[in-house]
Amino acid sequence: MATAEVESREWYVASYAPIGVPNSDHIKLRTVTLSLKADSIPDGNVMRAFEIGKVIRSKDTNFSEGEIVMSRICPVAEFGVLPSNLLQKINPADGVALPDYLSCLGILIFKVLGFSTHELQILTPILYTIGNAKEGSNVYISAAAGGVGIIAGQLAKVKGCRVVGSVGSDHKVKLLKEECGYDEAFNYRIETDYDAVLTKYFPDGIDVYFDNVGGNMLEAVLNHVNHGARIALCGMISEYNKVWTEREGVRNLLNMVDKEVMMKGFMVGSYYNHFEEFIKEMEVHLKEGKIKSKYKIYNGTESFLESLTSLFTSSNVGKVILQVTP
Ligand SMILES: NC(=O)c1ccc[n+]([C@@H]2O[C@H](COP(=O)([O-])OP(=O)(O)OC[C@H]3O[C@@H](n4cnc5c(N)ncnc54)[C@H](OP(=O)(O)O)[C@@H]3O)[C@@H](O)[C@H]2O)c1
Repeated sequence: MATAEVESREWYVASYAPIGVPNSDHIKLRTVTLSLKADSIPDGNVMRAFEIGKVIRSKDTNFSEGEIVMSRICPVAEFGVLPSNLLQKINPADGVALPDYLSCLGILIFKVLGFSTHELQILTPILYTIGNAKEGSNVYISAAAGGVGIIAGQLAKVKGCRVVGSVGSDHKVKLLKEECGYDEAFNYRIETDYDAVLTKYFPDGIDVYFDNVGGNMLEAVLNHVNHGARIALCGMISEYNKVWTEREGVRNLLNMVDKEVMMKGFMVGSYYNHFEEFIKEMEVHLKEGKIKSKYKIYNGTESFLESLTSLFTSSNVGKVILQVTP
């Protein structure tokens, strides 16, 4: 690319949505001119995402034109200028599609569930492993067909756990049981008595809960945990679009005391030092068919808002991906 400037369409936050799912009043598309000579990331209100892109120019001699790279804080835009220390090269393995690097290969769940990367069956109770899942553990995963949950459940199955997931549609229940190897799955929109449904699916209690939704579901889980259970707090999507005073409270934290339950939040970025070994391991699982990758691709920069909204309506299966260039 000879020119030092490029026009790019990018999504940005125009105004804060205090309640409800953000819409086109809050998140807007604009066209900007980017200088390819710039050194820093411009403008703080650009939406950011985990992305794969191609290098078109680099001042860092470690990167050359045409190389494929991945970064977790790219602008949601057609072009971006990023510091090279935020980029990781990808060398797609045979038989592994590029979107897999954003879905099953982009989610570091091994360490969170409690896996030792090289010895899956051996318990490694090191500080940063939260779930500590082991063979035979009763594992519950909410938002189990989302980008994170669908991989977490399959990894737990690889480790020999009994895995149950909750989702918002019967179609997803079928998918988890028939394609992803879940032992059981239920539709939380139909089976709305969470205490009853957890009694039904966890007659022996819950050892590990991978929480993606928070709120009433987290409260119900705390009535069904076993002694020494681990709860990995990945997200609380049921509570995001509420002012904090109207979020669902969890009234039974006391259950954690006598059962000596450990609950810990985590951010995936804190586990990036495991990324390379994680990708190698997951490429093998993918090729051997032990993990199935699921994603939905929205085409065109202008589809971003639609793709974002799909996360809050139970309509997505697996990772939601936006493809901005053909
Ligand atoms: N800690 C981290 O580093 C990190 C990184 C990535 C994501 N996260 C969080 O992890 C969670 C899962 O992420 P993801 O990428 O897998 O999400 P995703 O693919 O966007 O899926 C989200 C799913 O949540 C379910 N959901 C939406 N609204 C809900 C509600 N009110 N109550 C219960 N379920 C609801 C929907 O499926 P169903 O209704 O069909 O179940 C939706 O498909 C999110 O909370 C996300 O914010 C955390």
